[in-house]
Amino acid sequence: MRDRRQLLDFTENKARSFMADFTVPAHGIEHICRVRDWAVKIAREEGQDEFLAEIVAFLHDIGRVPEFKNNPELRHHELSYRLAQEWFAQYREFDLLTLQEKEEVLYVVRYHWDDTAEKYPLANILRDADKLDMYGEIGLKRAVEFHRKSGREDIKKNIEANLAMVSRIKTATAKKVIAENDLLRPLYKWIEEHP
Ligand SMILES: [Fe+2]
Ligand SMILES: [Fe+2]
Repeated sequence: MRDRRQLLDFTENKARSFMADFTVPAHGIEHICRVRDWAVKIAREEGQDEFLAEIVAFLHDIGRVPEFKNNPELRHHELSYRLAQEWFAQYREFDLLTLQEKEEVLYVVRYHWDDTAEKYPLANILRDADKLDMYGEIGLKRAVEFHRKSGREDIKKNIEANLAMVSRIKTATAKKVIAENDLLRPLYKWIEEHP
């Protein structure tokens, strides 16, 4: 168990220092840490592996950095997948994971944009955790921050798209979190106030 804690600390520090020299608006390490918290909570309540949930949360958006920096043709989820593969090969700390666990982590990271990719329950857990960060006051703030330069219409489109995505939430735990905390209200309120 101590080893697992060490790997989590190592992965967090790697993600943290990797994201540190480049802050992607609304998609930086703060987002990653919130997704980690949600993913662990969902995994716990759904009887899934909390440790792997934490690993995939830390790795899922590291590709945002090369995506923003170099504007390559690949999207960030594919870049996160490739980077994670590199880290697994490069850092012996990841040898703690079995081959099967690595395969699962890589799949979940690679397809965190694709709601139909359901080979592992962990894929739904990560996507639901990622979506939860679109809602509530924090989600609203992220949409406003991310589109601050492009203006109100883009903010509105983003908020509406995020609200439409509620129907794609899969786990009972994430649905409960949204309902109990009334997480959609700030987004609807913003839309009402910006006709
Ligand atoms: Fe992402
Ligand atoms: Fe994300």
